[in-house]
Amino acid sequence: MLAEKLIAQGYLSKEEYSSLLRCCTEEERLMLKARAVELRKQYYGEKVFTRGLIEFTNYCKNNCYYCGIRRENADCSRYRLTVEDILECCKEGWKLGFRTFVLQGGEDPYFTDDKMAEIIRVIKNTYQGCAITLSIGEKEKESYRMYKEAGADRYLLRHETANESHYQMLHPANMSLAKRMKCLYTLKELGYEIGAGFMVGSPGQTDEHLAEDLIFLKELSPHMVGIGPFIPHHDTAFANEAQGSLEKTLLLLSILRIILPKANLPATTALGTIHPRGRELGIEAGANVVMPNLSPVQVRKKYELYDNKICTGEEAAECAGCLQARIASIGYKIVNERGDSVAK
Ligand code: 5AD
Ligand code: FES
Repeated sequence: MLAEKLIAQGYLSKEEYSSLLRCCTEEERLMLKARAVELRKQYYGEKVFTRGLIEFTNYCKNNCYYCGIRRENADCSRYRLTVEDILECCKEGWKLGFRTFVLQGGEDPYFTDDKMAEIIRVIKNTYQGCAITLSIGEKEKESYRMYKEAGADRYLLRHETANESHYQMLHPANMSLAKRMKCLYTLKELGYEIGAGFMVGSPGQTDEHLAEDLIFLKELSPHMVGIGPFIPHHDTAFANEAQGSLEKTLLLLSILRIILPKANLPATTALGTIHPRGRELGIEAGANVVMPNLSPVQVRKKYELYDNKICTGEEAAECAGCLQARIASIGYKIVNERGDSVAK
């Protein structure tokens, strides 16, 4: 049985992963889930790490076909937070116990390397001991180096799919999987904790593609892996595509926990969007991180990567309290720690 083999070995071949994904029995699902929870408890106990997400710009020079803030979406109302706005988010987040701030944005040329470095330095000086995660896309090595020297600790850059032709289905011709992968290896080499990841059920995705994602992730061995279901956005070419499945996302979370036992695995907002208890189910499938939103309420609806995104009407404190209660309700505990990777 492939589930047993995965548990015993910690990895499978591409063919084995795709047949496991294609015909996973209920018994196998439960077995993988139980092993995933056992491993997450071994490394993280009942702890759930939080990262305060600050969506600081929705301008983007890219045009990824799945994404609501892609350049050619003229109906997206654009915004940029000022340095003061960003610091205000951090202030509120710090008060609420967050010790990691994630600066996420589109690829926005307005935020030059100098501007980014300055923002990073100010946050690090003001909130000593915090960790800063960047999620601002593909940059040159020298830019990544500058942010690192300014104090950035981590970098999230989902690879989106490890299959070249599938990557081309999801992105315009000026983007390439090779470039994406190169960025990830560069970030790792520069000493960042890195996060990769993909959408589950993105248009054109097959079980073979997912198997390639798993093989690639094992090889890259990132400190964090973010996965969530694909959710159509009404202003994109994929508006009428089906959304990714809850069960498959949960199964992949369990598999990822087994393949990369120490990885930080977030129960993502997208997962919380397709099911009212999506994030709780994610934690129960092996995830150990949640990323509540710290962005100012006025801009939240504008950072609309996909339709019906949750938490767009709530204040930071409301989201923090809500998640606290949700996590407690399943017997886990949110901790006010940086939540550094144990996979160094
Ligand atoms: N559905 C789900 N996830 C999406 N993302 C972008 N658009 C969508 C969508 N329509 C994810 C991508 C990106 C991350 C920030 O959000 O994987 O890397
Ligand atoms: Fe935002 Fe529940 S986490 S409202």
